[in-house]
Amino acid sequence: MKPSTPSDVSLPNPACKAQSPNGAAVVIGAGGGLGAALVAQLSGMAGETGPCAAVLALSRSSLPAIDYGDEASLKTAADWVAAQCASRQLELRLLVVASGFLHGPQGQPERSFSQLDAGYLQHVFQVNAIGPALVMKHFLPLLPKQGRCVAAFVSARVGSIGDNALGGWYGYRASKAALNQLVKTASVEMTRRNRASICVALHPGTVDTALSQPFAKTGLKVRPAEEAASDLLAVLNNLKPGDTGSLLDYKGLTLPF
Ligand SMILES: NC(=O)c1ccc[n+]([C@@H]2O[C@H](COP(=O)([O-])OP(=O)(O)OC[C@H]3O[C@@H](n4cnc5c(N)ncnc54)[C@H](OP(=O)(O)O)[C@@H]3O)[C@@H](O)[C@H]2O)c1
Repeated sequence: MKPSTPSDVSLPNPACKAQSPNGAAVVIGAGGGLGAALVAQLSGMAGETGPCAAVLALSRSSLPAIDYGDEASLKTAADWVAAQCASRQLELRLLVVASGFLHGPQGQPERSFSQLDAGYLQHVFQVNAIGPALVMKHFLPLLPKQGRCVAAFVSARVGSIGDNALGGWYGYRASKAALNQLVKTASVEMTRRNRASICVALHPGTVDTALSQPFAKTGLKVRPAEEAASDLLAVLNNLKPGDTGSLLDYKGLTLPF
């Protein structure tokens, strides 16, 4: 599913309605494999008893559109979310950022330092670290100053420096490590602002999407996006404020930075 406009669905997450009957969520990267599965799954659970009042899905093809190469698009989208919350009396309780880049016209992941390329490095950092950092700048202020709220950034296990035994994929690994540090740093600031807030990085496992498709090896456990989305929502459901600043996998296990 590739939503062309922001969608509006219920969400099975206590980050939302358990804290406020008008609790809402924003999903950024809603046009990707994982992001679309998140939105589709949440849509399927729509209903009056759902714990979230609304989900606003943003992508490069939504209205307003998110483009990480254009900070003004992020401000416009955040202003739109704020206006939606104000006019519909919603409270933003959950932010999920499911965007990411590994391969494309800008280049392929490196097998050796001899393949390092400035253009690819700039793009992979733009999408995986700088874009999400600017999302923090424009969207985290929309989260409430009281009560449980969650900001979740989809990262990757290969961004773990402590877990790096295989090498390769210099740019992707480094950009996700940068994202993890941004998440940790934002978590500290968010806790000062709201002691019940939670800000985490998530590893979804190897998921059957366009991002992983050229690299899915025989024998590697590649899971459907629907399963990964379901697992990540379950992890988010169980998070406590003490978990903030963590890198967690889809089973809820803490990974080393
Ligand atoms: N698939 C895996 O096996 C795997 C493993 C570990 C981690 N991850 C992570 O999981 C997340 C979701 O990836 P996926 O597997 O769903 O990949 P995907 O299907 O390729 O989706 C990529 C997403 O990134 C967004 N994006 C790409 N370039 C962008 C740009 N310049 N500006 C704004 N957004 C941009 C896309 O935006 P649109 O919404 O506009 O299309 C899309 O939502 C990523 O963070 C990825 O690194 C995936």
